[in-house]
Amino acid sequence: MEDARAAFSANTCSGCHGAETGTSLKQVLRRLPGTASDLSPFLKGVTLTDMCGISRTYSELERRRVDLCQLLSSTCTQINAEPRVTFAH
Ligand code: HEC
Repeated sequence: MEDARAAFSANTCSGCHGAETGTSLKQVLRRLPGTASDLSPFLKGVTLTDMCGISRTYSELERRRVDLCQLLSSTCTQINAEPRVTFAH
């Protein structure tokens, strides 16, 4: 039940862009000209204690790196057999 709550929350706009992932609204922060944007804890990697007292780790850039590596080493048949993803972005 606690895992379902966390998964549901992290897949809503205000959950992923808010307390569930330790993000203060924006995932890619504003920057000054000539400087790089800082990224949210959700993107860079963070371990948080959720409202149920359970420790949860998010590391979105690493998750995307692993996903891309798996994609690059897959055949077209394997890729076509994967379930369709329906992420917010
Ligand atoms: C699973 C987590 C997640 C969910 C759910 C999510 N977002 Fe995001 N959002 C991100 C990330 C990560 C970025 C940074 C761009 C990128 O690389 O995807 C982002 C970027 C954005 C931005 C650009 C500003 C910024 O934060 O950098 C807006 C605006 C935004 N999202 C709105 C929304 C809205 C509206 C929804 C709901 C329909 C939503 N997001 C759902 C993770 C999420």
